[in-house]
Amino acid sequence: MDYILNRRSIRKFDLSKKIAYEELVELCRYGESAPSARKQKSREYIVIDDYTIIEQLSEVSKGSMILKNCNTMIAVIGKDPMELPTPHMQAQDLSAATENILLAATSKGYGSCWIGIYPLEDRVSRANAILNVTGNRFVFSLIALGYPSEKDCFFDADKLDSRNIIHNRY
Ligand SMILES: Cc1cc2nc3c(=O)[nH]c(=O)nc-3n(C[C@H](O)[C@H](O)[C@H](O)COP(=O)(O)O)c2cc1C
Repeated sequence: MDYILNRRSIRKFDLSKKIAYEELVELCRYGESAPSARKQKSREYIVIDDYTIIEQLSEVSKGSMILKNCNTMIAVIGKDPMELPTPHMQAQDLSAATENILLAATSKGYGSCWIGIYPLEDRVSRANAILNVTGNRFVFSLIALGYPSEKDCFFDADKLDSRNIIHNRY
């Protein structure tokens, strides 16, 4: 499978199965292998397999409601920007890590969905409170993870519009 082209957002999971904690940590390793500005260590990961916490997080936003359908998650956390050499690039670092986790999950046959948190302040403060993220740290994204409940959920949707490819210059 070409797991980059075939990655899709999965929002329904088979709750009779659960990804092992060690596997979730392994996904964080893929997240952390993403590039970061000046190689700054701007990220942390909270591995969540407690459904009580997942249910609470499902109430952070309209888009997070789908978390109720999964039993494992990773929260990508931004470290205190004041302590980073290139804080204005931190959102890119965190996005790259989030995408890496989605791709690694797909390559292993797990379903995943990115739930956007940062930069919406109300979402960040709600998610921070639930996960006890304090100081200047912040929840950047939530990733729903699990075994997909639908067959054929990975497919190439061929999203590329050739009009968006420019050769050399406008
Ligand atoms: C920054 C960002 C925030 C997103 N937030 C949500 C969300 O809150 N809830 C959700 O169900 N999907 C969310 N998604 C997933 C998108 O809806 C999904 O990627 C898009 O519809 C394209 O579908 P695909 O991922 O299957 O290609 C988010 C994706 C990104 C990149």
